[in-house]
Amino acid sequence: MTEGMITIAYIAASVLFILALGGLSNQESARKGNIYGIIGMLIAVLATVLGAKVTGYLTIIICMGIGGSIGFFLAKKVQMTEMPELVAILHSFVGMAAVLVGFANYLDAGAHLEGAERVIHEIEIYLGILIGAVTFTGSVIAFGKLRGIVTSKPVLLKARNGLNLSMLLICIWMGITFVGAESISAGMWPLVIMTLIAFIFGVHMVMAIGGADMPVVVSMLNSYSGWAAAATGFMLSNDLLIVTGALVGSSGAILSYIMCRAMNRKFLAVIAGGFGTSGGTVASSGDGEQGEVSPVSAEETAELLKNAREVVIVPGYGMAVAQAQYPIYEITRKLRDQGVNVRFAIHPVAGRMPGHMNVLLAEAKVPYDIVLEMDEVNEDFPHVDVVLVIGANDIVNPDAQDNPGSPIAGMPVLEVWKAETAIVMKRSMATGYAGVQNPLFFKENTRMLFGDAKASVEAILASI
Ligand code: TAP
Repeated sequence: MTEGMITIAYIAASVLFILALGGLSNQESARKGNIYGIIGMLIAVLATVLGAKVTGYLTIIICMGIGGSIGFFLAKKVQMTEMPELVAILHSFVGMAAVLVGFANYLDAGAHLEGAERVIHEIEIYLGILIGAVTFTGSVIAFGKLRGIVTSKPVLLKARNGLNLSMLLICIWMGITFVGAESISAGMWPLVIMTLIAFIFGVHMVMAIGGADMPVVVSMLNSYSGWAAAATGFMLSNDLLIVTGALVGSSGAILSYIMCRAMNRKFLAVIAGGFGTSGGTVASSGDGEQGEVSPVSAEETAELLKNAREVVIVPGYGMAVAQAQYPIYEITRKLRDQGVNVRFAIHPVAGRMPGHMNVLLAEAKVPYDIVLEMDEVNEDFPHVDVVLVIGANDIVNPDAQDNPGSPIAGMPVLEVWKAETAIVMKRSMATGYAGVQNPLFFKENTRMLFGDAKASVEAILASI
């Protein structure tokens, strides 16, 4: 392929990526957006591989075969509830790729450049490896936290701010030493020291973040992985990688900002870590029993639903685990046929990834016009007869408003306790992702329907 053809292919791929992002901003066009993205990536890979710079096709074909098959089988096997973990680990790959490309580039091309060109190239390498290394370990810890193998509680070192500042200063010092180095071997040690510090920083940053703030961190790491890819693009002088990296980086940053607003958090404070804490220690989580709960049966729930005029369904992570979206839509249809106004209320961080509940409900063919965002529905709860909370916990916790000492204080929540009756479906009295007890369960107008959400919903359906 000639240079001109490659440039045209790269422009086409960039346009397709922009169309893909545009498509993904809306549920109805998301599928089309995905297809644009796939075609764009196919063009990008083909144009790059067929370019004059690329030789050694056998190695590339073998690596693409191995990597592609692992990706294919993982994507086929992964459950919807495991998607956020998969995304987190994929971010870590982008980070590691930036680190490896950076080192390879330094060892290979760095020596041939001179003067200002060489300085700029070395700064690109340094920044690319720095961002890549933070993204790598940060994403690995995020993966662990989402999978439950690393504690979801914030882990805070006493001297964390001092530690962060020292790491930053050492990285700046190493950067100056690196760029001023006479030879590759003299530049290698500051590069290696900075990489190790960046690895530690990534771990430290994400460990300090509390469970309920993980959505912000995942989107922030998404943004970092984009900037790491853009930095790699600069190192390799590949325009498409720069554009694609910048698209991912900036859309991830916008998503993080939206998440912060939804969670009522300050962006910089989340990055500095330690949310869900006060004064450097983990704040009281209000754990322990808080009174009696009132259980309810599926038959009684069906009766309440049939006699209601306004019903709101609040899905959470437990609905995803139980895959209860199909029978719940059956209930919705039956009730709506009987004249009951049934709507869904979606919290921005319900589940484990942005748009998690919307995807599940779309899968079950729930019409979009009865699926409402938190802000659209929160004021209606005092006029609602029955709220069905399906496997949700943190997003309906009144402590977020009432208890300033709670780790989730300040986070906007769905005010389901204002309805006449709130029925909460879950298996036990266990806490949600943030690890805090929920006073909703002990309120006078709350009824607990214990059991797996799918089994409970099917039992209600049978009684309706
Ligand atoms: P959670 O607070 O995690 O609560 C889910 C509840 O579902 C649990 O209390 C669990 O109780 C119940 N459950 C689990 N499996 C169930 C099953 N098979 N049947 C019935 N119930 C089941 O979920 P949420 O209310 O959706 O809140 C989301 C939380 O995750 C927030 O803290 C949010 O910050 C965090 N988070 C969100 C994201 C994004 S981007 N959405 C990403 C990372 C973290 P039992 O064990 O008693 O059944």
